[in-house]
Amino acid sequence: MGFSDYRTALVTGASSGIGAATVRRLRAEGLEVHALARDVRRLASLSAETGCHACAVDVNDLDALKRLASSAEFDVLVNNAGQSRRGNILDTAPDDVDTLVDVNLQAVLHLTRLIVPGMARRNRGHVVNVSSIAGHYAFGENATTFNSSVAYHATKAGVHSLSQQLRVDLYGTCVRVTEVSPGRVATNIFQNQNAADNPDTRFVGGFETLQSGDIADAIAFAVGSPARMNVATIEVVPTFQVVGELRFASRSEVARLKDMRSGADNA
Ligand SMILES: NC(=O)c1ccc[n+]([C@@H]2O[C@H](COP(=O)([O-])OP(=O)(O)OC[C@H]3O[C@@H](n4cnc5c(N)ncnc54)[C@H](OP(=O)(O)O)[C@@H]3O)[C@@H](O)[C@H]2O)c1
Repeated sequence: MGFSDYRTALVTGASSGIGAATVRRLRAEGLEVHALARDVRRLASLSAETGCHACAVDVNDLDALKRLASSAEFDVLVNNAGQSRRGNILDTAPDDVDTLVDVNLQAVLHLTRLIVPGMARRNRGHVVNVSSIAGHYAFGENATTFNSSVAYHATKAGVHSLSQQLRVDLYGTCVRVTEVSPGRVATNIFQNQNAADNPDTRFVGGFETLQSGDIADAIAFAVGSPARMNVATIEVVPTFQVVGELRFASRSEVARLKDMRSGADNA
C-alpha cells in the first residue's frame, strides 16, 4: 500500500504529544490530515505550521464524530486521543473511571465503527490504535514508573483486544490494523508540563524517555509499509525502561503494608 496510495488521514489527540508529532509526520508524507482534539488554540497553531485541518471536537461528542466521519473518505485513522490518571484501585475516583473508559476506549470503538466500514467498502485503509505497555503488563510504582490507574490499564488492554478483533473482522479486505504500544514518552499526559514541545526536556524528570517523534516514526513505518505487509503490533520502550518485576511480599512486609493502610484510613 504505502503512503502514495493513501490520501486522507484523521488523527485524534492531535493538539499535543504523539498526536501532534503524527500529524507533522503524515503531512510531511503528503497526506491531507484532519487533526482532532479539544484545544482550539493548539490546533490552530498546528494547522498554521503544517497545513492540517483543525477539528476542534471532543471524542465523546458522538454527533460531532458522525459529522466528521461523513465529511471525508479517510484512508488512515489514528486513534491516539487518551488520558491517564495515577493511583490505586483503593483510592480511584468514580469520575476517573468514567473519563478513562469514555476517552480511551468508548470513543475509539465509536470512531472505528463510524470510519472503518467506508474503508472496507473502498478496500483501502489503515487503522492505527495507540495503546500502551500498560495494556499488556501490570506494573507497580517504583523509582522509574508512575502508577497508572487500573482503569488506564484496563482501557489500554481493551484497545489491544479491539485491535486484534478488528483484524479478524476485516479479514479478506486490504484494510490494515496496527497497534502501537509505547512505553514512557515525554509528553504532557503524566503531568510533565510542556515536555512535548520543548526539545530541552529530553530527560524528563531525570529519565531518558522516548520522544513523540519516535512514536510518529513507528506509525509512519507501519502506514508506509507495502500492501502485503500488515505491521500488527509495535511495542516501543525507552532503552532504559523494562517490564519484569515479580513481587512477593514477606509476612513482615504484609504487616507493614497493613499498618500503612490503617494509618492512612485514620488520617
Ligand atoms: N506519553 C506516554 O508515556 C504514553 C505511553 C503509552 C501510551 N500513551 C498514549 O499515547 C496517546 C497520546 O498521549 P500523549 O502521551 O501524546 O499525551 P498528550 O500530549 O497529553 O496528548 C493527549 C491528546 O489527547 C487529546 N484528548 C484528551 N481527551 C480528549 C477528548 N475528550 N477529546 C479529544 N481529544 C482529547 C488531548 O487534546 P485536548 O486536551 O486538546 O483535547 C491531546 O491532544 C494516549 O492514548 C496515551 O494513552 C502515552
